[in-house]
Amino acid sequence: MRKFDDPNEIIVAPSVLAADWSRLAEEVARAIRSGADWLHLDVMDGHFVDNISFGPQFVQTLTTTNDFFYDVHLMIERPDHYLDRFIKAGADNLTVHVEADHDVAETLRRIRAAGVGAGLAMRPETDFSRVEPYLGQIDLLLVMTVVPGFGGQKFMMETMPNLTAARKIRQARGWRFHLEVDGGVYEDTARTARDHGANVLVAGTAAFGARDMAAAVRALRG
Ligand code: DX5
Ligand code: ZN
Repeated sequence: MRKFDDPNEIIVAPSVLAADWSRLAEEVARAIRSGADWLHLDVMDGHFVDNISFGPQFVQTLTTTNDFFYDVHLMIERPDHYLDRFIKAGADNLTVHVEADHDVAETLRRIRAAGVGAGLAMRPETDFSRVEPYLGQIDLLLVMTVVPGFGGQKFMMETMPNLTAARKIRQARGWRFHLEVDGGVYEDTARTARDHGANVLVAGTAAFGARDMAAAVRALRG
């Protein structure tokens, strides 16, 4: 499996949340054929966000049927409690929310100890100071560009300062974590996000909703 450890490489990550779940196997194959780099899996528990999506067994079904890179986004209240099951399910990157009810540093340590990429996510309304203490312990910072819970929402421009602040600190400290955006990412907003430092672009509707997914992936990559 490729390492994906260059934060300057543009990575396109279609979100399975927006796929046609009645044809899931074909949709995943379509995403892999489209030239995308990662598959983004939005796990929702109905507590941390006002929606429920899927759990470890769903993730395991995908990771055991396609050799790809799985970027698992845990929008759940207790990521520490479920961590081992998502690691066992084959996540390549596991992103947890700073706002959730857990010992963030300990969760990030456990993810890395398992040899999995450690991601930290922040909601649009969360102050950047909440994630700053952890930037030295992560492989990826996810700046949510919509309120988490649903696909198909409008990109929130007011989240862009989070990217520029993180990029500045990363540069100053010589760190190398990826900068990911998720929510309302289309060709135009992908360009805005890239201009502010994002290199991992999650797209649900823009990717799976496209008739020509390869063209959509190319457009997102810029
Ligand atoms: C929000 C989800 C969405 C999904 C992509 O909780 O994380 O952002 O990945 O949504 P769209 O369809 O806006 O790309
Ligand atoms: Zn997501």
